[in-house]
Amino acid sequence: MNSNLRGSLANSDSTSSTPPSKRASLNSNSNNKLSTANNGSRLSMRNSTVPQAPHCPASNIKVYVRCRSRNQREVKENSDVVVSTQGKTGKEVILKHGNTTKTYTFDGVLGAESDQESVYEGVAKDVLDDMLKGYNCTIFAYGQTGTGKTYTMSGDLQTNINGKLTEEAGIMPRVLFDLFGRLSKVPEYSVKVSFIELYNEDIIDLLSEDDGRPLKIYDDTNNKRSVVIHGMDEVYIKTPEEGLDLVKLGSNKRKNQD
Ligand SMILES: Nc1ncnc2c1ncn2[C@@H]1O[C@H](COP(=O)(O)OP(=O)(O)O)[C@@H](O)[C@H]1O
Ligand SMILES: [Mg+2]
Repeated sequence: MNSNLRGSLANSDSTSSTPPSKRASLNSNSNNKLSTANNGSRLSMRNSTVPQAPHCPASNIKVYVRCRSRNQREVKENSDVVVSTQGKTGKEVILKHGNTTKTYTFDGVLGAESDQESVYEGVAKDVLDDMLKGYNCTIFAYGQTGTGKTYTMSGDLQTNINGKLTEEAGIMPRVLFDLFGRLSKVPEYSVKVSFIELYNEDIIDLLSEDDGRPLKIYDDTNNKRSVVIHGMDEVYIKTPEEGLDLVKLGSNKRKNQD
């Protein structure tokens, strides 16, 4: 059996899963979400042995919030800490303003104590599991500039002297290494990567060697729930390192370097 699996990683945080029957769809209403990202990199995988996933309920969106601690500038300015969380992993964000306290509940809240590994384990790993079961998946990070989208999604893209990721590696490099680790047990597969940036109204192919001419987006005539980005480069990779190189290449080409 051949199945074409898709995972999307976007800088504005959410994760999603689509049942195999809806696999052609880029945007599905069957999702897992995390908050923190702003350009999109997509990872597609063709695997000849994965089983069909069971039917997915209509909505499978999960929303996570990651709160960072104050940076040096904010500490220097003595800015108030108005947000409190329940440690490394909780479900509530508590906002205090004067005598008013408001509590907001999410699928998960990763406090300032959370590190890159716990974010990957708590948010992204399950999405990769779902993708390998045959669902279309998206991890999308959104938030104000400076809140930590790039740190969460990319983080450190370098490997250390032993070829391993560092503790600061974000979701994208961790997905690449985890994915290839799991695929090493699968006899036949292929993985391809695309990386686009939505900047103002333009879609820019960050892996294209062309002049950065904007790509065109169309409704998919075969699938009303889906869209097609015409002419987007899709690059086959055989190792996580090749994927990392593409993420670095594309990241350097982003118009928005925040
Ligand atoms: N959870 C975190 N722990 C430590 N540093 C962080 C964290 N989140 C963000 N930062 C730092 O804060 C700064 C802004 O984060 P960044 O990811 O660039 O924000 P954004 O992409 O949302 O504009 C960067 O210097 C980043 O390293
Ligand atoms: Mg950023």
